[in-house]
Amino acid sequence: MSEYVFSDSQNAKELERLQAIEQVFDPASRKQIQTTGITSNWRCLEVGAGAGSITQWMATVVGQGGKVVAIDLDTRFVANIKLSNVEVLEGDIRHFQFESRSFDLVHARYVLIHLPDFQVALSRMIDLLKPGGWLVIEEPDFSAARAIIGEESVCQSVNRVNQAILQMFSNRSMDYALGVKLPAIFQRFSLQQISVENYTPLSKGGSGVATVMKMSTMQLAEKYIETGKATQQDIEQYCQFAKDLNTWAVYYATVGVTAKKQT
Ligand SMILES: C[S@@+](CC[C@H](N)C(=O)[O-])C[C@H]1O[C@@H](n2cnc3c(N)ncnc32)[C@H](O)[C@@H]1O
Repeated sequence: MSEYVFSDSQNAKELERLQAIEQVFDPASRKQIQTTGITSNWRCLEVGAGAGSITQWMATVVGQGGKVVAIDLDTRFVANIKLSNVEVLEGDIRHFQFESRSFDLVHARYVLIHLPDFQVALSRMIDLLKPGGWLVIEEPDFSAARAIIGEESVCQSVNRVNQAILQMFSNRSMDYALGVKLPAIFQRFSLQQISVENYTPLSKGGSGVATVMKMSTMQLAEKYIETGKATQQDIEQYCQFAKDLNTWAVYYATVGVTAKKQT
C-alpha cells in the first residue's frame, strides 16, 4: 500500500481536485514566494508539483536564464509541460539524487503532511538549497476544522468527519497539525529570517475551500469510515453541508513559512 492517501484516486477526479486546490491557494502561495525576491535566472525546485500551476508560474518569473525542476511521485499531470526552462522528474524527494546546494528556492505545498518521516524530506530540501537560498513550505493544520453554522445534526456529522480526518492521519503516523509546528521545526533546522503566514479561512458552503474538501472527502470516504469515527451517512451530510450556501465552517488552516538557509 502506498503511503500517499490519494495514490489510488482516478485520473479525472484527482486532476479536478488538484486544479481546485490551485485555484483557491495559488494567489497566496505566489505572494509568499514573491517575498523571497524570486527573479530572473533563479534555479527553483517545486516539490510535489501536483497539477503544475506553481511550476509554470515560477518558470515565467525565472525566465529563459533560469530553471524550474518539478519533482513528484506521480508526474501524470505535469509530464506534458512543454517549457524549455522546466524539467519534470518522477521520484520521491526523500531519495532522489540531486546535486547538493544547487537551488535558489525550494517550494512545497501540502506535501510534508503526507510523509510520516517528513524530517527526511525537509532536511533533503535544505541540503539542496544554495547557502542563502530560500525555503517556502505550506502545510495544513486540520485540527482547526469545525462546523460553525448549519443544522445542528448536520454540524455534528461534519465534526465527526473532521475527527475521522485527524484519526486517519494519526493512524498513518502523519501529523494532522503539521502546519502550526513548522515555524518551530524551521528553527530547529537553523533556518534564518523565518516569517509565518497563517491562513484560516472561514468558508461558506459552495466556496473554493469547501469544494476542495468535498472532493477530498468523496475520494477518501472509505479511509475515513475505516477509522470508526464517521459513518457513510456522516460523509453524505458533510458533502451536502459543503455545497449548502447557508453553511459556514473552518475546513482547515494553512500555515506558510518562509526562511533562508545560512550563508
Ligand atoms: C496534495 S497534493 C499537492 C499538489 C501541489 N503541491 C499543490 O498544492 O497544488 C501532494 C502532491 O505531492 C506529491 N508527493 C507526495 N509525496 C511525495 C514525495 N515523497 N516526493 C515527491 N512528491 C510527493 C503527490 O504525488 C501529489 O502530487
